[in-house]
Amino acid sequence: MKPIKVIIDCDPGHDDAIALLMAHRLPEIELVAVTTVCGNAPLARTTINARRIMELLGASDVPIAAGCASPLARPLVLGTADGPSGLDGSPYLPEPTVEAVPVHGVDFLAAKLREAEEPIVLVPTGPLTNIGMLVLKYPELLSKIEKVVLMGGAFYRRSEIITPTEFNIFCDPEAAEIVLASGLDITMVGLDVTMHVLVEEDEFAAIEKIDTPLSRVVFDWLKFYEKLHRGQMGIGGALHDPLALAVVVDPTLIETREAHVSIDRTGTHTFGATVADYFKLNGLEPNVKLASQVNSAKFFEMLYRSLED
Ligand code: BDR
Ligand code: CA
Repeated sequence: MKPIKVIIDCDPGHDDAIALLMAHRLPEIELVAVTTVCGNAPLARTTINARRIMELLGASDVPIAAGCASPLARPLVLGTADGPSGLDGSPYLPEPTVEAVPVHGVDFLAAKLREAEEPIVLVPTGPLTNIGMLVLKYPELLSKIEKVVLMGGAFYRRSEIITPTEFNIFCDPEAAEIVLASGLDITMVGLDVTMHVLVEEDEFAAIEKIDTPLSRVVFDWLKFYEKLHRGQMGIGGALHDPLALAVVVDPTLIETREAHVSIDRTGTHTFGATVADYFKLNGLEPNVKLASQVNSAKFFEMLYRSLED
């Protein structure tokens, strides 16, 4: 079977790093390009992190372009889940040998779509700033996007920052609104499912057992990430972004519900909240498929597979 052509737009981030790793390692995916955005860390950091990760993976031939350095309409509020560098706890990542492409990430994304002979699947794992810009600047290219499988949103059970708010949407709610209104085929993989994909004792033991150079690096990333998570929220490390990528490989990992999602940008206590209408109560057609259930064990099988030699 032909691999699925994917572009990842990310803000690495430990969990973004693992999404990049899986995209590169799994034979079902052809990683066409990577674009970076501010979010977990400032753009300069997320870009160098992406370059170092790809270098570590032996994937420095995958082009990386830096996109937007701030959200579309407000100052950047950095994420807190990954330490100041966006990738703390990874002292041994190699220095990159290949420069980022000297083109703005949004224009590079557009160029990649324009030249694509087959539709591309977009996997945004950071704030939606670059994708929002793409929608505004290059509407004629959206037909080249087969679907968008994004990590973002929080709907009923779990949330962070404030209920029901998730960082990627909170960070750039205007961009998220633009993307949601774009008419693209969008699957939202939000905290309702990603908070069930947790690295805990059993998963650490399984990763340790794989014992490859890559699994050892991932083990250390996840140890650091898990410690931060546990300190902040009292649970293991949630593999948000890798789940979005994994859903491209195997859509049966999640169950979805159609809904119209809007974002609260004025709420005194709920700024950035994602609000889902499942029953057309507001008279609007669904604009997304929302992930509602996840098979976490099946996800982890895929992760382990990507770490084997
Ligand atoms: C999202 O925010 C970031 O901290 C993670 O990388 C993920 O994309 C989870 O809310
Ligand atoms: Ca991310």
